[in-house]
Amino acid sequence: MQTFPNDFYWGASTAANQCEGAWNVDGKGISIADCLTRGSLTKNRKITLDIDTKKYSYPSHTGVDFYHHYKEDIALCAEMGFKMFRMSINCTRIFPTGDEKEPNEAGLKFYENVFKELKKYNIEPLVTICHNDMPVELTKRFNGWADRKMIDYFMKYCEVIFKRYTGLVKYWLLFNEINIMTKPTGNWHHAGICNKGTVDFPTQVDNVQLRYQALHHLFVAGAKIIKLGKSIDLNFKFGTMVAAYLYYPYTCNPQDVLYAYQQTQLQGYLCTDVTIKGKYPYYAKKYFKENGIVLKIEEDDLSLIEKNTVDFLSFSYYGSNTLSATQNEDANCGHGFRGMVNPYLEKTDWNFPIDAGGLRLVLNSFYERYNIPLIIVENGIGAAENLVKDENGNLTINDNYRIQYLKKHIEQVRCAIDDGVDVFGFLAWSAFDFVSLGTGEFKKRYGFIFVDTDDDGNGTYKRYKKKSFDWYKKVIASNGEILD
Ligand code: BG6
Repeated sequence: MQTFPNDFYWGASTAANQCEGAWNVDGKGISIADCLTRGSLTKNRKITLDIDTKKYSYPSHTGVDFYHHYKEDIALCAEMGFKMFRMSINCTRIFPTGDEKEPNEAGLKFYENVFKELKKYNIEPLVTICHNDMPVELTKRFNGWADRKMIDYFMKYCEVIFKRYTGLVKYWLLFNEINIMTKPTGNWHHAGICNKGTVDFPTQVDNVQLRYQALHHLFVAGAKIIKLGKSIDLNFKFGTMVAAYLYYPYTCNPQDVLYAYQQTQLQGYLCTDVTIKGKYPYYAKKYFKENGIVLKIEEDDLSLIEKNTVDFLSFSYYGSNTLSATQNEDANCGHGFRGMVNPYLEKTDWNFPIDAGGLRLVLNSFYERYNIPLIIVENGIGAAENLVKDENGNLTINDNYRIQYLKKHIEQVRCAIDDGVDVFGFLAWSAFDFVSLGTGEFKKRYGFIFVDTDDDGNGTYKRYKKKSFDWYKKVIASNGEILD
């Protein structure tokens, strides 16, 4: 069996709006993420264009206060032996409303400090340029990315960060899980679109024409970003970032097989086809026609997209979904997914089907289709956890389920490498606990490090090592040889 390459990037991922907190500190503006209320598995998050703290609580406002704890958090990641740390820049720290002439120095300085701290430990940053953040002002003025003007606002932000962080950052990701734009849930947190009547996050009012037009603007912006970035620093490497959608047919009925295949094309491959192959695929054209979508494409858009494709593909993987063309879907599969119950798979407490073998399939399918380097930038299990004392009296979490989950997935990464797939890193979700995106709660924890805070705002924000902390440290030290 092939082993992991010597320069393999082990580490974990985070997102600014989920961990930083300090939502209105040092000149930061209000982001769309700051307008999402707290929720739970049974209570939908709401989108409030105007913040109403009397009525709602907003978990991104406090996060786990990475803003003030980054040194301690990075030191703990270094102790685990991280080679790479994924984070995002919250553009509202740089351009609070999107429209300022000059960037906010305090925001720029914060990220510079974080990058320097990572450098101190030889940890390579992987920076998501946009992880579900943008000034809510731009939603109010233009309905977000539905308007082409967003491209210019965004390019201004990118130019500032590229110039400032050249030499500190090499690897950039464009838009987090851009392919969620193929579903109505993408409207708000991927494009800042808030159509009239939208109240709940999982059931947003959708306008398919606007949504795909916004996606087109994201594609054009992505191509422009790559062009600009490479003109500033030739060493920059850009990756597209998608949620891996692995859809199984519920039965071998050809109708089910075709349905799962078509959903995979549209949701799983459309965005990577455009950002890697540089062209809208044939099946997209048919889908647009059938759904009355007519994109406004400007003269240079398509050649820009064709000439400026990404260097690598990054993706999140949380499991597979099982689809039937003929039967009503009966399972909530997490993240707003619906599907059939797959009798071969177990589920997490938040209903995500656990499918380690699916990761090998995804890696092979992506590599076969695109033949470019791949990196897993999110994979992990969310669980409710309470501190207990270990044999030495130290407070910890006995997260054996996380160890088992990650072990099985990492084994499959190794199998894919053995199959011949070019995988250059594995970043778990997440480094430390913070607020979950889908349900907006602290209760659902993903980290190797427990952070003492809860949904009622209690806690000391103290950090505690979970059992998986020492396990991951061994995995990294042995370059994936020791998984037990
Ligand atoms: C991905 C997102 O979709 O899944 C993350 O990129 C998110 O931001 C992660 O946190 C896990 O989802 P959730 O809803 O459990 O936080």
